[in-house]
Amino acid sequence: MLFKQQAWLRQKLLVLGSLAVGSLLYLVARVGSLDRLQPICPIEGRLGGARSQAEFPLRALQFKRGLLHEFRKGNASKDQLRLHDLVQQLPKAIIIGVRKGGTRALLEMLNLHPAVVKASQEIHFFDNDENYGKGIEWYRKKMPFSYPQQITIEKSPAYFITEEVPERIYKMNSSIKLLIIVREPTTRAISDYTQVLEGKERKNKTYYKFEKLAIDPNTCEVNTKYKAVRTSIYTKHLERWLKYFPIEQFHVVDGDRLITEPLPELQLVEKFLNLPPRISQYNLYFNATRGFYCLRFNIIFNKCLAGSKGRIHPEVDPSVITKLRKFFHPFNQKFYQITGRTLNWP
Ligand code: A3P
Repeated sequence: MLFKQQAWLRQKLLVLGSLAVGSLLYLVARVGSLDRLQPICPIEGRLGGARSQAEFPLRALQFKRGLLHEFRKGNASKDQLRLHDLVQQLPKAIIIGVRKGGTRALLEMLNLHPAVVKASQEIHFFDNDENYGKGIEWYRKKMPFSYPQQITIEKSPAYFITEEVPERIYKMNSSIKLLIIVREPTTRAISDYTQVLEGKERKNKTYYKFEKLAIDPNTCEVNTKYKAVRTSIYTKHLERWLKYFPIEQFHVVDGDRLITEPLPELQLVEKFLNLPPRISQYNLYFNATRGFYCLRFNIIFNKCLAGSKGRIHPEVDPSVITKLRKFFHPFNQKFYQITGRTLNWP
């Protein structure tokens, strides 16, 4: 009898215990999601119209993820999206470069902001003659659906170094905002080399060492014909852009700092884009396995960048690094002077 009572009591305690743990987990999840939604969701004053200002921003965020996801899966029609006031808008800001500067990380991180919608693919509209020939409507149709009050951002790093691009972008929108993310030029050049090297290795192609490409073996000077070197002479490219756009329309992002301390860099971009500050430390967490910051959209959805971002660079002869740094130094000084942003590059 006593044994039966004890078993019954144990069973009851087990049920009560499970209920308590379940409720606790629910509360933690709820508080977690509220914590997160409060700082990043409201877009005061930006999502006007007849709707309730208080609830629209949250819905905007949900729709932004949900409907677009359905659309990609082919479950939502274009008409349904239009019914929700969703439109395809030309970008109000473009990440024009620099290749290997952290352009993908910047775009993905800005996309954490509820008022920002990213074009996932690099569109290469302005740098590719064939695409450009298809016209601005073709470009607009490549843009994701968004609310009219949201801003669309695309990134195509080839824009920064392609001759024709500034004029073409100017013709589309002379007041567009332009983001340039840069890294210490020698590191960027090695990162550029590493990417090309990986492609060549995959195709079983022969390749040279970085040192052989970056230094002209005849003169022992820096080889300015090597594209990875040329791309890192930021000031030369920027000067071409300045023939079309005033410097106030550019914002320089420190790509090295975006790796180690992304939030302050993103806050500067929010300011430049006149967006209310909505990206918080909650949205960025350091992943020790990846060795990089990853993105937290909510309590359920996190993501790190693909493995192709954050490659291990080959070791480069220190004397070549010193030579390159010396070479880039005067160009860097000019870049700081023009942009008004001093980066502590060697
Ligand atoms: P490495 O592969 O040399 O490390 P891009 O997107 O313009 O191609 O730039 C790639 C670079 O973004 C990577 O270069 C990496 O260092 C940098 N990066 C910045 N933040 C990152 C992040 N959170 N996750 C992964 N890579 C990041």
